[in-house]
Amino acid sequence: IMTTIPKDKAIDSTPALLSDGYNFIGNRCDELGTDVFETRLMMKKVICMRGEEAARVFYDTDRFNRKKAAPKRLQKTLFGEGGVQGIDGESHKNRKELFMSLMSADSIRQLLGMIGQEWELAIKKWSTLKEVILLNETEEILCRAVCRWAGVPLKDSKVSKRTKQISSMITSAGEIALDHYKGRRNRKKAEKWISGLINKVRSGKIIPGEQSALAVFAQHRDRDGNRLDERVAAVEILNVLRPTVAIGRFIVFIAHALYIYPEYRDKLLQQPEMSEWFVQEVRRVYPFFPFAAARVKKDFEWNGIHFPKGRRVLLDLYGTNHHAGTWDDPEVFRPERFKHWNGSPYNFIPQGGGDHNTNHRCAGEWATIETMKLALDYIVKKMRYNVPQQDLTIDMSNFPAIPESRFVITNVNSVS
Ligand code: HEM
Repeated sequence: IMTTIPKDKAIDSTPALLSDGYNFIGNRCDELGTDVFETRLMMKKVICMRGEEAARVFYDTDRFNRKKAAPKRLQKTLFGEGGVQGIDGESHKNRKELFMSLMSADSIRQLLGMIGQEWELAIKKWSTLKEVILLNETEEILCRAVCRWAGVPLKDSKVSKRTKQISSMITSAGEIALDHYKGRRNRKKAEKWISGLINKVRSGKIIPGEQSALAVFAQHRDRDGNRLDERVAAVEILNVLRPTVAIGRFIVFIAHALYIYPEYRDKLLQQPEMSEWFVQEVRRVYPFFPFAAARVKKDFEWNGIHFPKGRRVLLDLYGTNHHAGTWDDPEVFRPERFKHWNGSPYNFIPQGGGDHNTNHRCAGEWATIETMKLALDYIVKKMRYNVPQQDLTIDMSNFPAIPESRFVITNVNSVS
């Protein structure tokens, strides 16, 4: 039986998206008593959905494509053009394989070793400073470590500049007007930087570590012997550098959660499994990546609702992680709930759902979890600090959301 899809009342919901932010889809689902509805964004019809069953459909590659799914403005800043996020089928599988080849347990261990070294140095440096803005500092830690891991040379004197460029691609994602153009300029500069390195690798002027991201994307040849276009290779290397730097945001959320729920400090010292649960709960509760976008590949029906070919569909990642059908008291921060999580690839999707190899699920998810656990360990066991009076409000209408102060700490001491 066909049913008509519930519709948002507004003629166009773009202003509502900008004001409701992360809660845009969830609020409308709650009001309409549904997990799927239709609306218009920028005057175009869009289907919005949330929840485990919706995610299962969204990651069915017979039903959805990514080509032209992401808005152009995000490609110009956050993702880059021609990268893995916007391709489908066989070419996606081949490209994704290159990313997944960087994610062996051994390779992630090496990354963690490098990040750990940077934490040691950073804590020593912080103990000499009056105050530390944790977001900026953790982004630098991650930028130094990931560049080294990826085979990308980065002089000490350039760390701050490159970190800012990369960070700007992330913050400009949700910006309009001036900051959006700042993000575009920074992406261009960063792509030029990485293209230069790819050139040098291809001409033998630099020889990066064998399994490094720079080597993999600069040297890859497809079955016909063709190399990746230099600019696309640069976009893909930035698809490793940029999101690794973005883990700084999750680290700020870790510090925020430890501040709001200090009782977990003792639990983290006493229960070895708590570290994983805590990190998972931070990824579930805090706002990071709001939605994923796809287009209907060919007409189909689901739950009696018609999905016409070409229609843009948004899956609410944040809302699925807060879905009352899956999560008891979804707004409550309770890491212990992960003791009983069923591990479904569709009900807990802060970094996308489905399969890492065949879907668009985040290539860096395991690296992210391990990097967060390491950060938690340093913050709880290897340093002491104060959290002075500051504005910790997290504005849910802002993409990507972060505490207003970016988390300031003072009186840092290292604990040995
Ligand atoms: C894709 C989130 C860290 C590499 C994605 C997607 C999300 C996401 C939501 C898209 C899922 C979809 O479209 O279905 C995050 C978050 C991170 C993070 C919140 C934490 C900071 C990383 C890291 C790396 C990485 C550390 C690499 C080192 C990628 C790549 C894709 C991707 C290459 C595209 C995959 C594809 O299109 O097949 N990520 N990610 N991410 N992520 Fe991450």
